[in-house]
Amino acid sequence: MHRRIIAPGALAAASVLLAIPASAASASPGAPGIGDPYYPAYGNGGYDVSHYDLRLKYQPATDQLEGTATILAKTTQDLSRFDLDFLLDVSEVRVNGAVAAFTTSGEHELEITPRTPLAKGATVTVVVRYSGIPSSKQAYGFTSWHRTADGGVGANEPEAAWWWFPGNDHPLDKATYDVSVLVPDGSQAISNGTLQSTSSRLGWTRYNWRSNKPQATYLATLAVGKFDLTTGTTESGIPVVNAYSKDLGDNAGAARASIERTGEIADWLSGYFGPYPFDALGGYVPNTNTGYALETQTRPFYSPRQFASGSNVSVVVHELAHQWYGDFVSVAGWKDIWLNEGFARYAQWLWSEHEGEGTAQELADYVYASHPADDAFWTVKPGDPGAANQFDIAVYDRGALAVQALRNEIGDDAFFALLKGWPKKHAYGNASVADFRNYAEQLSGKELGSLFDTWLFEPAKPAVPAARTAAI
Ligand code: ARG
Ligand code: ZN
Repeated sequence: MHRRIIAPGALAAASVLLAIPASAASASPGAPGIGDPYYPAYGNGGYDVSHYDLRLKYQPATDQLEGTATILAKTTQDLSRFDLDFLLDVSEVRVNGAVAAFTTSGEHELEITPRTPLAKGATVTVVVRYSGIPSSKQAYGFTSWHRTADGGVGANEPEAAWWWFPGNDHPLDKATYDVSVLVPDGSQAISNGTLQSTSSRLGWTRYNWRSNKPQATYLATLAVGKFDLTTGTTESGIPVVNAYSKDLGDNAGAARASIERTGEIADWLSGYFGPYPFDALGGYVPNTNTGYALETQTRPFYSPRQFASGSNVSVVVHELAHQWYGDFVSVAGWKDIWLNEGFARYAQWLWSEHEGEGTAQELADYVYASHPADDAFWTVKPGDPGAANQFDIAVYDRGALAVQALRNEIGDDAFFALLKGWPKKHAYGNASVADFRNYAEQLSGKELGSLFDTWLFEPAKPAVPAARTAAI
């Protein structure tokens, strides 16, 4: 368009080219995935989010969610277009204030084309207005939004965000959050971090939650329902807010008896892993029938089913261990899941020892002996299990066996220094199994290649149980 007002001729054409911003000349679409081989479409390329501001309204009676997400990001390339991962219905997108074109593609891509290309290194504000019924949306045939009798909850791994906010859904892109949710009076909205304030008017109550520390998208959570809240403070001064559905029935006592020990357990874990890395803490139990718990940052999600047989402090230890191993230090790719589950399981073994219910070594010996060599258990490689086996029991149990084998190989002094040093080394960041091996070798002064191969990368039962002899 502008070419017309410039005098014709070769020289003029050249200066027109120069006048075009570099971003326009070289801008290309951001990749639809961040580059994780387990989940090629998860996350996106071309930008990095620093903050999500989610201002939402949720109607528990109908599961209707609506709101506005304001996303602060920085571009990492000249961008003609970029994606967010999202499933709900979008009515408007603005980029740096200007209305932007958008369309959907794939299972969960929202493709956004700003009016003008974005230059590499630019700060960008993206506003997405949206609405929808999260429980009605599926991707790859499943949903991570669980409807309850009095509301709903978004919690799953490795993906839950698409059902309630648009984002760059991969642990490599952590950000801070403000989650502000309007719910009918008498309902509560539970999310991560600190409850900054609540206010009521016109029959609706607003809950304002803030997460000040970088948080992976799958660790963000939202639950709406009728909850009882309890509050406390850890020995180390961290405020604790727990939330229990009013509808937990026979499981209510056991759930509370377990989760009310959150502060005590976090303090105990900090003795192994270093200071608790966040400024808020708690747990919540909606009345779902979900089979898993999840280490949603600062405030793990628990299912009533975990408490069906009585108190279950061990699951609380597991989810709180993830606050260091998983949340403070997150996987660089989903193949690194051992760094989360192997260590969270190992923390349960340390707790068992603490409670006089069997030492870590006894539990390792038990797990080793309880799976014969031809058990499919040994075919899963915890160091690279494949997406289909990401949460296989072997990632947890053989994963913890690997931790015990490492402990025996390098000795307790180096081992406990490693347990504490690792979270500090990658504070609020990401790391891989290869990074962990390098650090363990550096810290212990030992070559650990064959130990890692045997316990994490061979699809077979190791010949020697957890290399116990090395320590003797
Ligand atoms: N990280 C969770 C835990 O072990 C497991 C989540 C499993 N998710 C799933 N969809 N099965 O605490
Ligand atoms: Zn876990």
